[in-house]
Amino acid sequence: MTDNIFFNKSDLKSCGKNVIIGKTVRIRYPEKVEIGDNVIIDDFCYISTSLRIENYVHISSGCKFIGGKESLIEMKEFSTCAPNVVLASGSDDYVAGIATPLVQDKFKGNVQRGDITIGRHSIVGANSCVMPNVIFNDGSCLGALSLAKEDLDSWSLFAGIPAKLVKSRNKKKILDLENSFIKSHGK
Ligand SMILES: CC(C)(COP(=O)(O)OP(=O)(O)OC[C@H]1O[C@@H](n2cnc3c(N)ncnc32)[C@H](O)[C@@H]1OP(=O)(O)O)[C@@H](O)C(=O)NCCC(=O)NCCS
Repeated sequence: MTDNIFFNKSDLKSCGKNVIIGKTVRIRYPEKVEIGDNVIIDDFCYISTSLRIENYVHISSGCKFIGGKESLIEMKEFSTCAPNVVLASGSDDYVAGIATPLVQDKFKGNVQRGDITIGRHSIVGANSCVMPNVIFNDGSCLGALSLAKEDLDSWSLFAGIPAKLVKSRNKKKILDLENSFIKSHGK
């Protein structure tokens, strides 16, 4: 692994084998971050949550995982965030609160907070945004430039603002591909 300019990789809660983390990735709370095997986190990502990443996960450049260390974001095996995805496990009150973090909680109104899970084989499309408490059930995907405010059904493709069901994904084909991949490469 190359050195990182913001944190010591030895401070991560755990980190598996064959992990590539770009030099400019900023992880605010490395002690809250667990990383499996065969993971890539590309440059210019910013992560200010607790985070659990399983095996064969790709977080592309420019992603932001925000909401503070009390929130947990999970990325299950074979899941991907395309470039510039925002996973917001905290979101300010846009109707009746002051949004800046420079005021105390009592001035902030009804801040939404909640963990986010990106399921196995799920993909979050480029420049999309996921709100607090959302679960991507296994195999669910979100298209580019989309907003997920509610859980996504498994093996389904959603897109738009707010995200709506577009079509089903081919669960059998994807799981067959996974089986052959694991047979040839090992877990
Ligand atoms: C969602 C996506 C996968 C759908 O692709 P597709 O299977 O070829 O689907 P289609 O283009 O036939 O679109 C189906 C419908 O969904 C709509 N749609 C597709 N992508 C959309 C998007 N990102 N936002 C809003 N609506 C979208 C289409 O307008 C179409 O609507 P209609 O049936 O009313 O005409 C694709 O459009 C997409 O967004 N891919 C993201 C790719 C990406 O982020 N790559 C980065 C590197 S991984």
